[in-house]
Amino acid sequence: MLKTAITEMFGVKYPIICGAMMWLSIPPLTAAISEAGGLGNLTAGNYETEEEFRNAIKAVRTLTDKPFMVGITILPSLRITPEHHAMYVRVCADERVAGVEISGAPLDKGLGMDAIETLKKANVKMFQKVGAVRHAVHAEKVGYDGIYAAGIEEGGHPLSDDVTTMILTPRIAESVKIPVVTVGGIADGRGLAAALILGAHGVMMGSRFVSTKECPCHDNIKEELVRRQEMDTTIFGRSIGLQGRALMSDVIRDVIAIEEKGGKLEDLIPLISGLRIKQAWETGNVDYAPLMVGQSIGLIKKVMTVKEVLESMVKEAEEVLAKKNKMVV
Ligand SMILES: Cc1cc2nc3c(=O)[nH]c(=O)nc-3n(C[C@H](O)[C@H](O)[C@H](O)COP(=O)(O)O)c2cc1C
Repeated sequence: MLKTAITEMFGVKYPIICGAMMWLSIPPLTAAISEAGGLGNLTAGNYETEEEFRNAIKAVRTLTDKPFMVGITILPSLRITPEHHAMYVRVCADERVAGVEISGAPLDKGLGMDAIETLKKANVKMFQKVGAVRHAVHAEKVGYDGIYAAGIEEGGHPLSDDVTTMILTPRIAESVKIPVVTVGGIADGRGLAAALILGAHGVMMGSRFVSTKECPCHDNIKEELVRRQEMDTTIFGRSIGLQGRALMSDVIRDVIAIEEKGGKLEDLIPLISGLRIKQAWETGNVDYAPLMVGQSIGLIKKVMTVKEVLESMVKEAEEVLAKKNKMVV
């Protein structure tokens, strides 16, 4: 048994959390992860109306009575506006979800201190995903309950400070008093054990959950991630001020070529639009749109159920930690 500040805070079996995943972190996957003892994520940006968002929360609750997180990404978007962000916060408080993962701008800067007060009053735990010590210190100061320390290895949008998970976890753990969760590059029990040793109280994964039986994407992609290795992802989007990490593919090569020629956001949009990404997940065509996975794909050996992933990770972490203990003589 692993008992950490995260298992205690949420009353969950395992300190393993799923990150926000646009198009994928939807009720079947959310509930499968929570039901298996981790913390699933319901990604708010999948829902454009309050009714759809409330229905999604209800759908998770019909599948599990266990806690889950809601992911709210506060980044510039053509589809999801500040009004959506405010609605997500209001509904999360109203529905008393267990916690929120905020990425991009912190709540106080994105929506104002009222948003923090609203969530606090409803006892919704607030975690900010950060890539730098200064952002973690800020989140603690304005009242957050925990930090997701996300290194450059992660799939999605790692901060352009480019600090690795290995350094970021201990730097943030020594800089704040609230619990820290390691994000980026974790896909097995060795990573979980390492994160705990570095000072974290849990781990968050995205890519590993994509290659699970319950993930709502095409099987081709799950198998492709098993075949691909740690060097098969790349950073793109630096030239437009929003870097991302995605699977190396034909479309990413095209995106990078456009960036190198000085192309602007409007030149990239046709290749990287959210709807195009949605279609790629559905059809299984990895060359059609950027698939935002991280270097941790090098550690994925097999498509498994969520329950198998969580159980095998915790067993392996416990074995690794016990073995390391014996090295101290
Ligand atoms: C397919 C996919 C989609 C993602 N979408 C989002 C998102 O919408 N918002 C966000 O904050 N992070 C997003 N992320 C990042 C994850 O929440 C998490 O930080 C990351 O996957 C952790 O690194 P890992 O992939 O090495 O496990 C996404 C990750 C993946 C794999």
